[in-house]
Amino acid sequence: MNARADRKAQDPRPGRLIGLGVGPGDPELITVKGLRYLRAAPVVAYYAGPRKRGNALASVEPWLQPEQELLPLIYPITGRPPPPPFDYEGVIRRFYDDCAGRIAAYLNAGRDVAALCEGDPLFYGSFMYLHDRLAGCFETEVVPGVCSVVASASALSTPLVYRDQTLRVISGTLPEAELKRQLAGAEAAAIMKLGTNFAKVRGVLEALGLASRARYVERATMADECIRPLSEIDPATVPYFSMVLLPGERWPGAGADASAKEVEAQAQRA
Ligand SMILES: C[S@@+](CC[C@H](N)C(=O)[O-])C[C@H]1O[C@@H](n2cnc3c(N)ncnc32)[C@H](O)[C@@H]1O
Repeated sequence: MNARADRKAQDPRPGRLIGLGVGPGDPELITVKGLRYLRAAPVVAYYAGPRKRGNALASVEPWLQPEQELLPLIYPITGRPPPPPFDYEGVIRRFYDDCAGRIAAYLNAGRDVAALCEGDPLFYGSFMYLHDRLAGCFETEVVPGVCSVVASASALSTPLVYRDQTLRVISGTLPEAELKRQLAGAEAAAIMKLGTNFAKVRGVLEALGLASRARYVERATMADECIRPLSEIDPATVPYFSMVLLPGERWPGAGADASAKEVEAQAQRA
């Protein structure tokens, strides 16, 4: 080892933590900057369920280099947690503490770590729990990703909000009464975290007369993406990676009154 490398081994400059938005499915939805950072990272951390590789890792597999070290962060529990006295919050807190400690060991050794996050890292992303624990101690940069809300609207080919409409992002985990309150006042909405909450969400949309306007999409931009009317969904089959979009009412101005036939006729005349 030469003197410079020896000094680095004894007192390395801490590595950089990078929160990297990827997917949320299609590997090509990574940004140019995200791809550059991913390829340069010696260590790539990713969350996954037990015995799974995780959607974030799947989204970058085509871009990984053989020499990169993978650091799996395996959730101790996924799906609906057992009821109290099981200390779910405590288990999850200790899990994120442990993940942060493992990543800090790499950073202290002078190695950069790219922590993958499905969609955008700071939008309901599990990277946030690493950021909370590590950003104050290590140089940290967040590379935004394509949020699943806009990826789902694109998958549905549905305009989400026009002009001055407001979009509400709502978690399907909310109690029924709160869901009703949120949706009753919404011009447009994205209802996330469906899974076992789907039947409750659909029931509320039906009660409010919004079900026919709402659209369901699961695994948007993934190879097994699935789009079906709400009424056809078997709640037992709804995965976590799904959402319901309630697009804003079509804006009546700006030429929207021209029918598709008129537009086609105009195009043919041109
Ligand atoms: C923990 S949040 C992660 C959000 C993510 N950071 C983002 O920017 O979209 C997980 C929720 O995002 C939504 N989601 C993530 N990826 C999705 C996809 N490919 N298709 C549909 N919904 C998705 C689902 O509602 C899921 O329950």
